[in-house]
Order: sequence, then structure tokens, then C-alpha cells
Amino acid sequence: MVKRSRVLGCGTYLPANVVTNRDLEQRVDTTDEWIVQRTGIQSRHLAADGEMTSDLAIGAATRALEHAGVPASSIDCIILATTTPDNTFPATATKVQAALGTLGFAMDIQAVCAGFVYALSVADNLIRGGQARRALVIGAETFSRILDWNDRTTCVLFGDGAGAVVLEGYDAKGDSSDRGVLSTHLHSDGTQYDLLYVDGGPSSTQTVGHVRMHGQEIFRHAVTKLSGVVEEALVANGLEVSDIDWMVPHQANRRIIDGLARKMKLAPEKVVLTVDHHGNTSAASIPLALGEAVADGRIKRGDLVLMEAIGGGLTWGSALVRW
Ligand code: ACO
Repeated sequence: MVKRSRVLGCGTYLPANVVTNRDLEQRVDTTDEWIVQRTGIQSRHLAADGEMTSDLAIGAATRALEHAGVPASSIDCIILATTTPDNTFPATATKVQAALGTLGFAMDIQAVCAGFVYALSVADNLIRGGQARRALVIGAETFSRILDWNDRTTCVLFGDGAGAVVLEGYDAKGDSSDRGVLSTHLHSDGTQYDLLYVDGGPSSTQTVGHVRMHGQEIFRHAVTKLSGVVEEALVANGLEVSDIDWMVPHQANRRIIDGLARKMKLAPEKVVLTVDHHGNTSAASIPLALGEAVADGRIKRGDLVLMEAIGGGLTWGSALVRW
């Protein structure tokens, strides 16, 4: 017997305001054709004035608790992945804790677009180690707040939103047929810090700053690093690509996702794609895609779900979960 964490439920929350590429054409020097061809993005949701990351996180977490059918009072740990916290401190997770009325402890994780995989890994390890029994793992972002709306090379790529899953510890058999998180694999390479960063921060400039990115360099790293960490997950569990029911990738760019699936020889119909209508929502993109594929009946209990992500740092990782 081994302790594992299984998914009890999931939920999503998107701001009401939908901004299409055509809308962006009015704001910056870009075209719908350029954005669709280079990224696959057609529209994204943007938070309204005053709508904060905690609001989106609370919306997603509330729906995840409803879907799981468990009360907030039974949650003993909240791990919130975000790059766009309400305030520099305290952790936005503590605001979510207060709003939901959960017990135990709450903290934020910062790994940019890889944040959800990192948060899932931390929660899974806390559960396996006995420090938590039920955890809420949330990815929530108001990325629009750190975009330079005069920089067409970045502002067209991102969107806002949140997704959450409820995890619960249980005693499993200890093989790859178990439900729950089978394994997580995390990496970072700080020598690539300058490839994707925000040009501000409390300690450096005392400002929030804006996203800066070397897009082509990121692209070069993405497929290689992601295929490596996917292989690592499969080997660790004695599984093959053909065992994967669904790949739920970080939704940065359709070309990166297609390139990885091609390299893995994974059938395109097994890939959950939301980048077309969400854009890149950083730490929120995987739980948003999970929520959508569970709600429309694609992901079912017992399915093997592969998640992978890469983001600023560079940070990257994968998780294999039997739903
Ligand atoms: N609209 C119109 N033209 C544009 C735009 C825009 N929004 N942005 C850039 N261009 C122009 C450039 O100015 C350039 O023009 P020039 O040739 O006259 O100088 C031309 O388009 C080509 O620019 P590139 O930067 O070479 O375009 P590229 O084909 O590399 O596509 C992109 C850019 C989409 C960012 C690509 O590099 C990419 O997908 N990179 C991966 C990075 C990524 O997805 N990051 C997301 C965050 S990281 C993450 O989540 C993993």
C-alpha cells in the first residue's frame, strides 16, 4: 500500500469580458491572421477593473468544491499557483482561505506558466507525507495586469482565468492502475532567467513591471524540454505514449503543443486544446483545460491524463494523473 492523492473534483472561472483578435487590432498594430497563424489564439478573457486574481481563484475553487461534493471546512491546505498575486504579500492563497472558510494552511507558488504542475507536486507530496489530507490546488492569473499593451509581441498572447482541483489522500495499491497522482517531475534552469521575465519587482525596481520575452528562444527550448520531462514521467511509471488517454498541456501556443504531440507520436485527438479561446493564462491554463474536458465528458474516471508545462525561469515539469 502507498499513500496517493486522487482528484475528487475540479472547477474553472473565467472573467466575463471576451476580447477577440479583431478587438486587439483596434488597440495595437496587429492582425487576426498574424495571431492565429503564429499562436492559434482567437480570443481571450480579460479581468474587469477591480477584478483580482483572488476573485477568479475563489470562483474556481468554489466550483471545484461543489464538483467534489466536499465542504470547504474539510480542506486543510490551499496551494495557489500565480504570478499575479493581489499584493506582493500576503499570499493570495490566504485571501482564498478566508473567503472559503478553509482550515489548515495556505500558500502561493511562483513558477509562472509551470506553476500548476509545481503546485500539484507540492500538494501531492504534502498529502503523501501526511501533512494534509485534502488539498485545494489552484492556478489563477490576471496576467493582463503585467502586460505592456504597447508591445504587440507579448500583449496578444495572454489571458486571465482560474482553475482548481480538490485532492484527497487515500491508500492505494502502488501501481500505475491506481487512481490519482502517479508522479510529478519538476525542473528549472536559472541560467535562462532573462528569456522570459518581468522588468520590475519589489526588490529591484519597487514597481510591478511588464512581461518581456525572447519568443523564438523560448520556442526552441519548449519542445525539447517538454518531450524530455514527458518521457521521464512515462519511464517512472512503466507506461507508454499509447497508454495516455489525454494530454492536457500548458496552453501557450498551438505550434508548441502540436510540435510536442508530433514528437511524441501522440494522436492529435488526444490533446485537450483551449489556447484558441483562452490564450495563455499561465498557471491557470492546465486546470482551465482540465475543467473544460471534464465538464464536456472527454476526461472520465480511470483515464490516464498527462500534464506538462514550461514557463519563465526557465521552469518546467510534468504530472501523470489517473483521473
Ligand atoms: N502582430 C503582428 N506582427 C507581429 C506581432 C503581432 N502581434 N508580434 C510580432 N510581430 C512581427 C515582428 O515585429 C516581426 O516583424 P519583422 O520581421 O518586421 O521584424 C515578425 O512579426 C516576426 O516576429 P518573430 O518574433 O520572429 O515572430 P515568431 O514567428 O517568432 O512568433 C511568437 C512570435 C508567437 C511569440 C513565437 O516566437 C512563439 O510562439 N514563441 C514561444 C513563446 C511563447 O509561446 N511564449 C508564451 C509565454 S512562455 C510559455 O508560456 C511557455
